[in-house]
Amino acid sequence: MTECLVVKGGKYLEGSVEITSAKNAILPILAGTVMCNGVTVIEKCTRYVDVDIMLDILEDIGCKVNREKDFIAIDCSTIQSSYIKDNFSKKIRSSIFMLGPLLSRFHYAKVAYPGGCNIGARPIDLHLDGLRSLNVKIEERHGYITCDGSNMRANSIHLDFPSVGATENIMMAAVLLKGTTTIYNVACEPEIEDLQNFLNAAGAKISGAGTKTITIDGVDRLYGTTYTPMSDRIIAGTYIIACAMSQGKIKLDNVIPEHNVALINKLRQAGCRFKISPTSIEMLCNKRLNSIAAIDTQVYPGFPTDLQSQILTLQTISRGTSVVTENLYETRFKVASELNKMGADITLNNKSAIVRGVPRLYGAEVTAGDLRGGAGLVIAGLKADGYTTVLGVEHIDRGYKAIECDLCRLNADITRKQIKM
Ligand code: UD1
Repeated sequence: MTECLVVKGGKYLEGSVEITSAKNAILPILAGTVMCNGVTVIEKCTRYVDVDIMLDILEDIGCKVNREKDFIAIDCSTIQSSYIKDNFSKKIRSSIFMLGPLLSRFHYAKVAYPGGCNIGARPIDLHLDGLRSLNVKIEERHGYITCDGSNMRANSIHLDFPSVGATENIMMAAVLLKGTTTIYNVACEPEIEDLQNFLNAAGAKISGAGTKTITIDGVDRLYGTTYTPMSDRIIAGTYIIACAMSQGKIKLDNVIPEHNVALINKLRQAGCRFKISPTSIEMLCNKRLNSIAAIDTQVYPGFPTDLQSQILTLQTISRGTSVVTENLYETRFKVASELNKMGADITLNNKSAIVRGVPRLYGAEVTAGDLRGGAGLVIAGLKADGYTTVLGVEHIDRGYKAIECDLCRLNADITRKQIKM
């Protein structure tokens, strides 16, 4: 048995919904708990499938994890192993985050190569180069990365590219080192600042997250703390685009609007209206939008690659032609052929998708090949004539906690069904 989402098209979104905590903030924070002495409590720890896998990884190495709905208490004092097995690692890319914290605490880590969404090559060279700069000896053999950190020391590191994960991993590896580690050309994504806030609440001395340089002054120990991760800017962005798609009027609560400035500016130009408060976004879209001539994914604060599939979907029914360019992941246009099955007119040309807007989409059976592409297909179904069946829901569940429930709260008509394959 597997599951699908059946979306009845034609409903416009209205009402309000609260945005849950950010998957991409929670995952490195959970890895970071390995370094804390005492119990760490993560409040509003939304249980996306990827989050539960990360909790399974912590349990497998010996942490005591108490899962009471979205309230998670973790005691890592009982860890028996710094070895992340292949069957866990291949389930999520974020298993690579375990390297830094395990090295920090045990000066040794062995992690199988990570899995994750199939959206491109996704190498980990920047993570490993950063750790080597901290004097970690690394061996890559038989699908495992073995790290010997017995002579680790603080250093200055320059990243060749501002990778989010590499920034976070190196930050965590350096937290307990004597002296000061400075990382230049880091990623500026808000989730990195959230990780810094969590680690500092646990006793670390890190500054600069959100800018291009992060400084870590080593401390002797981290302690258990209570922390609430930031809200998910990609889920907020997905629902904003869903509202634009359905020509609706919605309010999103528990958001940090400045995290979605790149998206909001594009949609304002296309014809949407927004009312912003410090923690909410209200929006109205009461007409067919104009196409956005050019959308280029960039590192933060540029247009996020994690909203590329969704904005591509919106362009399929906008008035005019749009060129969407993906600069981070080479195979992140798999959703295009599925959208074309629904009547869209998308042509791929290397890193770009040329989208000629059509007046309407038609319901069809389509398959999600990755997390955000899957969200794009659900959004497409909102505006399609008839019913759209989205298969591959397991991809969507990795980063949305029951997307159909949020969207139904906003007046959509979406049903989750079991199907025999
Ligand atoms: C994080 C997000 C992911 C998002 C991405 C880009 C998490 C858990 N995931 O992924 O949702 O799509 O940021 O915003 O936070 N690269 C290398 N070598 C490396 C690491 C990365 O070449 O060692 C390349 C990647 O192939 C990619 C680019 O750098 O082209 C950005 O990747 P990175 O910022 O590392 O993304 P992730 O941390 O994997």
